[in-house]
Amino acid sequence: MLIPNQAADGGTLTSLFRRALAGCQLQPGETVAVLSNAQSPPAYIDATAAAASTLGAKVFTVGLPSIQRAAGTVPGVGEVYGLTGLTDLGAAVAALKAVDLVVDLSVLLHSAEQEEILAAGTRMLMITEPPEILERMFPTDALRERVQNSVTLLGAAGEIAIRSDAGTDITMGLGQFGSGGGWGFTSGPGTHAHLASGLAAIYPNEGSANGRWVIDAGDIIFPFKTYVQSPITCEVVNGFIVSITGPGADAELYRDYLESWGDPEGFAMSHIGWGCNDRARWNALALLDRSATQGMDGRCFAGNVLFSTGPNNEAGGSRFTLAHSDVPVRRHSVWLDGRQILDHGRFVVDELAFDDGFARLGAQPPATPATPATPATPAAPAPAADDALVGA
Ligand SMILES: [Fe+2]
Repeated sequence: MLIPNQAADGGTLTSLFRRALAGCQLQPGETVAVLSNAQSPPAYIDATAAAASTLGAKVFTVGLPSIQRAAGTVPGVGEVYGLTGLTDLGAAVAALKAVDLVVDLSVLLHSAEQEEILAAGTRMLMITEPPEILERMFPTDALRERVQNSVTLLGAAGEIAIRSDAGTDITMGLGQFGSGGGWGFTSGPGTHAHLASGLAAIYPNEGSANGRWVIDAGDIIFPFKTYVQSPITCEVVNGFIVSITGPGADAELYRDYLESWGDPEGFAMSHIGWGCNDRARWNALALLDRSATQGMDGRCFAGNVLFSTGPNNEAGGSRFTLAHSDVPVRRHSVWLDGRQILDHGRFVVDELAFDDGFARLGAQPPATPATPATPATPAAPAPAADDALVGA
């Protein structure tokens, strides 16, 4: 296992990426484009190309220009999805539509160009996390099964209800949009995977979210990549946050961030789901170099409920906005059509159960014994990997 916060040598990286590409069923003779920008680690570009080469693929690299942002249209800090180096660069998009696999080191997530490339049948693997995280959260069969089972549960539900001792009490209608999830590999034409991953989500029916959502101390707000220190209460009416209040600066900061986009669509409730990866760590942002991680630990740790705000266009909805936040919260309980799935951050259904206590890191031991597991329902056919729906 790699040591956190240390760089990996080229051989180690090449070996790691070879396993990742093999997991995406890269075949001899397939074409691979390694897509990077100025923020991509040069060692990642070289190691990805070398790994693809050792598997018999034909590889080329594409270095994208810096993202150009119109002044005043986006906040000056934080992560911005949807604008990429491919924006208005049709020649590069055309080249990427013609290859079998794009390894995206540049973060095309949530962009129109990514959708266009996927629609052409190119599959895509996004890699952004540091080596230690990639290795620790590396896909396993158990993770894939847990994500697939979660996607099936979410996709079959008509309503999700979420509550917490901190005050969350919200319901959302489901069924208008399909569910999606990712565990880090993908193999089918036109599909997307994010290494590392381990989450499942769905977009609620437009206008259906109603209630109160409380972000408690210790929960994480992305893109801040920080732990909330004081509770934030978001009142949600007909799918939109109508007030953000709290006793500390956290509520003011979150409200200011959402307001800074100047876009009412940014206050909509976006994808909803939960983390599935028992090797993802809630505490990663306290231990690792925050600037080096995209935050997949925080988004994917098992049993978190991942709220988000902003767009739903990737699921086929009508709402597009660059304003987006992901907010994993702990110790929440979830019901799908009245069937309890999570109890204070613990999975309580057989198809999502863990056989050890590792998944309960970050969860709160209940005062009473966990709800007895409900008899397992037969798993539906495995859905295709499509974490482009939820991404980051
Ligand atoms: Fe998101």
